Amino acid sequence: MAPARHRLHVNGRGVSVEAAPGTRLLYVLRNDLALNGPKYGCGLGQCGSCTVLVDGRALRSCTIPLRAATGRRITTLEGLAEGGRLHPVQEAFIAENAAQCGYCLNGMIMTTVALLTANPDPSEAEIRDGLRANLCRCGTHVEILRAVRAAAARLRGRAQASAAAQASAA
Ligand code: FES
Ligand code: FES
Repeated sequence: MAPARHRLHVNGRGVSVEAAPGTRLLYVLRNDLALNGPKYGCGLGQCGSCTVLVDGRALRSCTIPLRAATGRRITTLEGLAEGGRLHPVQEAFIAENAAQCGYCLNGMIMTTVALLTANPDPSEAEIRDGLRANLCRCGTHVEILRAVRAAAARLRGRAQASAAAQASAA
């Protein structure tokens, strides 16, 4: 199909790209928007390295045609930080040294953000199940699981601190 102009909402801002409607979102993010957080791994929806948030859900951008992303809220790894500070999930992965080559990390982190948004206090089984479809060829699984637990604790701590601050300001 011929290239057409598409309006996307990426990392909090509107952008316009020209591409064929069937172009996979991953290529648009990386090639047109220079957002290299999402990685090309398998290109078949099987490894998770290209994961982004679409309306808050962790989805594989290598399988999403551009036309299906139009009008949706897309967040990439680059959009997680706020006010110059990394997202608590990113901080936890760094603190726990949860990486070797790092290729899987985009998918692990984006999937973890979605997981902990839906379930702030997951059990070990729920964490394993949530990350089951994200592959790590380096075998960093133990550190990644530890990072997810640490991230959950950081997010809960931040939520409690924010609630306490609001209560004392009221
Ligand atoms: S590159 Fe998208 S799932 Fe592997
Ligand atoms: S750290 Fe290398 S693929 Fe996971």
